[in-house]
Amino acid sequence: MNKILLKYLGKRPEIYEVTGLKFWDDPHISKGMLTAHLNPELESATRKYDFIEKSVSWIEELANGGTGKKLLDLGCGPGIYAELFAKKGFDVTGLDISERSINYAKENTLKNRSNIEYNVKSYLEMDYSEEFDVVTLIYCDFGVLNPEDREILLKKIYKALKPEGILIFDVFSKEEYKAKEETANWSYNDRGYWSENPYVCLYSFYRYDETAIFLEQYVVIEEESIKCYNLWNHAFSIEELRQDLKKAGFDKCSFYGDVSGKDYTEENNIICTAAYK
Ligand SMILES: C[S@@+](CC[C@H](N)C(=O)[O-])C[C@H]1O[C@@H](n2cnc3c(N)ncnc32)[C@H](O)[C@@H]1O
Repeated sequence: MNKILLKYLGKRPEIYEVTGLKFWDDPHISKGMLTAHLNPELESATRKYDFIEKSVSWIEELANGGTGKKLLDLGCGPGIYAELFAKKGFDVTGLDISERSINYAKENTLKNRSNIEYNVKSYLEMDYSEEFDVVTLIYCDFGVLNPEDREILLKKIYKALKPEGILIFDVFSKEEYKAKEETANWSYNDRGYWSENPYVCLYSFYRYDETAIFLEQYVVIEEESIKCYNLWNHAFSIEELRQDLKKAGFDKCSFYGDVSGKDYTEENNIICTAAYK
C-alpha cells in the first residue's frame, strides 16, 4: 500500500498521465454526480438551471430556430439541456459515457414524451456523417482531453455536421487559473463523494504553466485500497482555438464570454465558440 501511495505522491505527474480508473462511470461517483446534476441551484456537475435555460434560448437563436433541426449533445449527462432543446423543437440525440446518467435521461424522455434519442457512448468513438445542424459540447469538457483526442473529436464533429452546421462549445480561458496556486491538503470522510466507505482524500493542484495545463489530483485511501483520479484541464487562448478548429476544417468561428452569448473580454474565465462548417 505504501508503495502505491509513494508512486502517486512521490513525484509530479507527467502531463496527461492517466491512472486507468473510471471517473464519470464509476458506480459510486456517478451517483453523486447525478445528484449534483439534478440540483438546479448548484454550479457543479452542470450550471444552474436558469443559466441553462438562457443558454438553450441563445443556441436556438444561433441556429435560427429549432424546429426541423437535428442537434447532437455530446456529454449530455442526464439530459437537462437535451429536454430543453427538444422543447424548442430540435430533434435531439444525446451521447454520454455515464450509464447512470443516460438511464435517467431515457426514463425522463419516456415520461415527458420528448422523443430524444440517447446512447451510452464515448464521443471519441462516434461516427456520424453530415447528420446534424447543431453539435453542442457544454461545460468545458473539451479542455479535459489531451491534444490528440481533441483533434480526433473536432474532426469527428466536423464530419457529423451538415454543411453550414454549427458546433457550440466552451472552454476555460487562462483567466480561470490565473490566481490559483499549487496546493496539497487532505480530508477524512465517513462516506462521501469518492466512496461509500470511510476514506481519506489527498487533494493536490498542479500547474504546468508552459503548456497552460492544470491537474486536480484526488488520491482516495480506503481500508483496503488506494485510488488516484487525475482530472486534467487545459486553458485556451482564442488564437489556439482558431488554429485547432481550422485544422479540423472549421474556417469561420465567433467567440463569446459564455454559453448564453455574452460578449468576450480578456477578463472572462470562459471562452464559448460557435464554429461553422
Ligand atoms: C461536466 S459534465 C457536463 C454535462 C452537460 N454537458 C452539462 O453541462 O450539464 C461532463 C459530462 O461528459 C460526460 N463525458 C465525459 N467524457 C465523455 C466521453 N468521452 N464521451 C461521452 N461523454 C463523456 C460525463 O459523463 C458527464 O456527463
